[in-house]
Amino acid sequence: MDIKELIERMTIEEKAEQLTQVNSSLLNKKSIADITGPLSGLGLTFNQISGIGSTLNFSRVSDVIEIQENHLKIDQNSIPLLFMQDVIHGCCTVYPIPLAMGAAFSPELIKECAAMAARECVENGINVVFSPMVDMVRDARWGRVAESTGEDVYLNSLYAKAQVEGYHTQNVAVCVKHFAAYGAAEAGRDYNTVDMSEITLREYYLPAYKAALDAGADMVMTSFNLLNGVPAAANKKLVKGILRDEWGFDGVVISDYASFDEMMVHGIAENGFECAYKAMEATGDIEMVSLNYIRYLKELVESGKINMEQVNKAVERVLVLKQKLGLFDDPYINTKPKKKTLCKEHRAIAEKAAVKSAVLLKNDGVLPLSDSFKKIAVIGPFADTGDIIGAWHCYGNTNDAITVAAGIRSLLTAAEVHVEEGVGFEIGAQVDSKKLKAAVKLAKESEAVILAIGEPSSDSGEGTSKLNLDLSDGQYELLKAVVAANKNTTVLLFSGRPLTIKRFIDIAPAVLLMWHPGTEGGTAAAKLLFGRYSPEGKLPMSFPMSVGQCPIYYNRYNTGRPRTNNDIRSPYTSSYIDGSNLSLFPFGYGLSYTQFQYSEIKLSNNRLNDGDKITVSVKVKNVGKRSGVETVQLYIQDLVASVARPLRGLKGFKKVSLAPGESQTVEFAVDSEMLEFYNEDIIKSAEKGKFRAFVGTDSDTQNYAEFELV
Ligand code: NOJ
Repeated sequence: MDIKELIERMTIEEKAEQLTQVNSSLLNKKSIADITGPLSGLGLTFNQISGIGSTLNFSRVSDVIEIQENHLKIDQNSIPLLFMQDVIHGCCTVYPIPLAMGAAFSPELIKECAAMAARECVENGINVVFSPMVDMVRDARWGRVAESTGEDVYLNSLYAKAQVEGYHTQNVAVCVKHFAAYGAAEAGRDYNTVDMSEITLREYYLPAYKAALDAGADMVMTSFNLLNGVPAAANKKLVKGILRDEWGFDGVVISDYASFDEMMVHGIAENGFECAYKAMEATGDIEMVSLNYIRYLKELVESGKINMEQVNKAVERVLVLKQKLGLFDDPYINTKPKKKTLCKEHRAIAEKAAVKSAVLLKNDGVLPLSDSFKKIAVIGPFADTGDIIGAWHCYGNTNDAITVAAGIRSLLTAAEVHVEEGVGFEIGAQVDSKKLKAAVKLAKESEAVILAIGEPSSDSGEGTSKLNLDLSDGQYELLKAVVAANKNTTVLLFSGRPLTIKRFIDIAPAVLLMWHPGTEGGTAAAKLLFGRYSPEGKLPMSFPMSVGQCPIYYNRYNTGRPRTNNDIRSPYTSSYIDGSNLSLFPFGYGLSYTQFQYSEIKLSNNRLNDGDKITVSVKVKNVGKRSGVETVQLYIQDLVASVARPLRGLKGFKKVSLAPGESQTVEFAVDSEMLEFYNEDIIKSAEKGKFRAFVGTDSDTQNYAEFELV
């Protein structure tokens, strides 16, 4: 296909259609057949619908085939449609939510999961995944933290790259989102304003998008938010300036849902004509669901506000992507069943991911449970529900999920496993005295209780910001009553975000955080509870003590006061008069069924020459009674620089698997590139002077050694 020649043949109307994405409901057989005049309310004519460039929100592969067939019957230029879908943590086999995947501290694992999702995409009609979502997050009130891999720029960047590589193992294009800084919404309110210094933007928020692009992401979705006063889709400095001119990205930029229209709501455009103009000027290629390009692109060109070259360039990017995906050769390319969907191998990957992302928050010694128990109680709203697969689960089905009770039953075939709901999981759920009584009775009669509580899938994801991050009083009453009835109680916690659950932690003998673990969540939970594996997850996001601390993150800056001691290097970060500024659990935190001891840090040299390397090493010993995996974390603090530097930043991590009594020396190479940051002139470099290297089990570690960059 000669794309340039094709573009020459296309009319401006056809070009505008190519740059428009509509919901698949507008393109299904029925509506195509039904359209005779302008589509009611939308002002689209049949011809406009027929030449559309791409679609989203379709549900079955048979729909995809039908839609493409109908489209090709009527498209003047025989250009196939692109089918794009929100594949966030799996297509049909659902793996844990991205925030949980962050806890696995394993880019290799998310790559394997993304590759699995891609294998299912190519038999379910999907050409483009609206993934990875790489927005950095620091505020648990924002419901979309579930879709992110957490609060750390280094970890997120590794995960961004790994996901792109995973999807690209198949013929699937990748659309990284949401460009940019969507995760920094003020007050954790979805879609809210972001106002941010260029240093913060470049140092923390942009690198993960860049990492995805360096790994070959094909598309970028702009975000809904204002960034420094301009919505991302119209933000010329951001999209044309940084993304295109500075980073050299020549792939497709798509808006988020109707965000061209929203320029009017933000008050930066008077009408649709101005929306289309600003979007084109920012080099936005595809308009998702709103219709300003269709309505005004022709007029914009005719009036000379934009030139045909701009339009042609955008169309070319879209057509090049279609060609790259092979759609011109075979419009039905990703619709052939290969029987991978929900296969055994995929379920095993989902199970492994759920095991590795679970985080042990507390253990008084109750866990692991003995599998010689004959009577086990599974109590709580998550005891026997498929609603553990998480928000944005694409074609995932709660009925395909292994519930906690089912997971335990299939692991312990000789045990009696009884279920009581106790209380619902809705916000504000109250205890019903009859249900509570039944739960307490069951707890008393059982050898061990698994109390499966938390936040439902519908409480996280888009538009689910929260003022309150605690679980309901009803769930707390249930915990109190159950623990009073049976000390051998473990809380199995389900959540799409960090929670302020100190009161639960205080009285629960053990707490294992499963997040929303996906299709095989129940299998993974059972195997962890009964010691087939030791938990190894580490929190990718700080758990606040109180919602008033949000946003809270480990790599914060020091404050000049109040001073509490004479060491000017220790954190004086300001506090509250009615509570601590410390998190409930810090970033990187997570226990194991065994214990690890860290030796003092050794440096190969305490002077690092620019362009050279030093080795930071530490001996880690398993001093407990079971085998386990520890994620050894390296953080670096720049003690004095031309601009203030955070108290520490993650620069590396390594997993070690140790048998009881075994030890291993873990080494990290540190070079000057790892010490670089943006100065006031937005120039990235490392400055000479003193640094601290911290190595430990979480971001609170005080195990450090000092070195100097000379
Ligand atoms: C809105 C969401 O913000 C975005 O993440 C998603 O990809 C689109 N809708 C399409 O569903």
